Amino acid sequence: MTKTVVVGITGSISAYKACDIISRLKKSGVDVRVILTKGGEAFITPLTLETLSGNPVYTDVLEEKVSGVVAHIELAKKADAFLIAPCSADVLGKMAHGIADDMLTTTVLAAKAPVFIAPAMNSAMYLNPVVQENIEILKKRGCAFIEPESGILACGDTGVGRLADTAVIAQRITEALKIKRDLEGKHIVVTAGPTVEMIDPVRYITNRSSGKMGFAIANAAKERGARVTLITGPVNLKTDESITRVDITSSADLLEAVKTHFENADALIMAAAPADFTPSVVHDSKIKKGDSEFLELKLKKTADILKTVAQNKGERKIMGFAAETDNHESNASAKLAKKGIDCIALNDVSNKEIAFGSDDNAITLIYADGRSEFSGVKNKNLIAHWLLDRLF
Ligand code: CTP
Repeated sequence: MTKTVVVGITGSISAYKACDIISRLKKSGVDVRVILTKGGEAFITPLTLETLSGNPVYTDVLEEKVSGVVAHIELAKKADAFLIAPCSADVLGKMAHGIADDMLTTTVLAAKAPVFIAPAMNSAMYLNPVVQENIEILKKRGCAFIEPESGILACGDTGVGRLADTAVIAQRITEALKIKRDLEGKHIVVTAGPTVEMIDPVRYITNRSSGKMGFAIANAAKERGARVTLITGPVNLKTDESITRVDITSSADLLEAVKTHFENADALIMAAAPADFTPSVVHDSKIKKGDSEFLELKLKKTADILKTVAQNKGERKIMGFAAETDNHESNASAKLAKKGIDCIALNDVSNKEIAFGSDDNAITLIYADGRSEFSGVKNKNLIAHWLLDRLF
């Protein structure tokens, strides 16, 4: 079940750090809803936060995004946790005294979920008795504080008041939400991205796979405690250093890497888009244009990687992907049977909403016994968790 965290961002120079907190929460599969105060808007734009969270950002309590839905009440009900990071002295004071004059303070007043507050301000302000009293009031009411750090502050002063480390803040929230660590002790191999098949030293054949789905699965599996090996074709994506990354180029390289790493793994998730054909001859030097109107390129079939490794899979789980433009379910079911795998995640690549490179996806997961389930359209991080929930 996806958890929702409402993140309130207030007027502080550290408002930009909320971006990293949002990204970390999203990687953990959390549905993040952002409320930005007027003060916060002076430091960071709603567009940035909307892009990172994948949801509309709330800035005005009087502007209802959906008619007939009272947003601050709706959001308050939806929240599994409330995080205010960075929290200014002003918002602390309002919350301590029940003042509700904007989207953030009205929503937090209506929320029943646990509230986490990460203050950030100048040390003289933070240590002012009125701020400390407000903190005590809120602590007595059950709000959890993620204490600020000491150091050099943005204003040049040295002291306490710097926003706590973003990794620490995100971890407090995921721990409170009991984000699953159900893959601890498992080794999962994930493949991602396209392959590149060289024609000559400067030309190649590739495809439009962005790698985003495979990377999202690798990150989600890592968050849930698995040891992850990510085998990837050339893509413009970064990996966390806790993930073992193996970069490959061709379909043949991918086959060798999968064989090697699946050997001691518990599962293989094959989200890569390996080329089905590769030039039968790779020219050592650049092919010259010459006088002919045509250039004939002879391609030969590559090995079916899933089919090859599934032959000795034993108890290990294998999930494949099927990118289809038509006869979706029958094509995917035929692939599942032909390759001898446990399940296949069917993607409708003709759907513009979830086209190549998109941050969203929608999957029909088909199992070997003929059952199937539909995920609905979701952000790829949420899809990744949805798939992992169904792997073992
Ligand atoms: N795959 C594989 N080896 C290949 C090609 C694809 O293991 N040489 C894997 C993909 O990673 C994916 C699944 O097989 O998990 C299905 O890939 P897809 O391209 O949809 O199917 P193909 O088997 O290549 O069939 P077709 O291209 O004819 O649809």
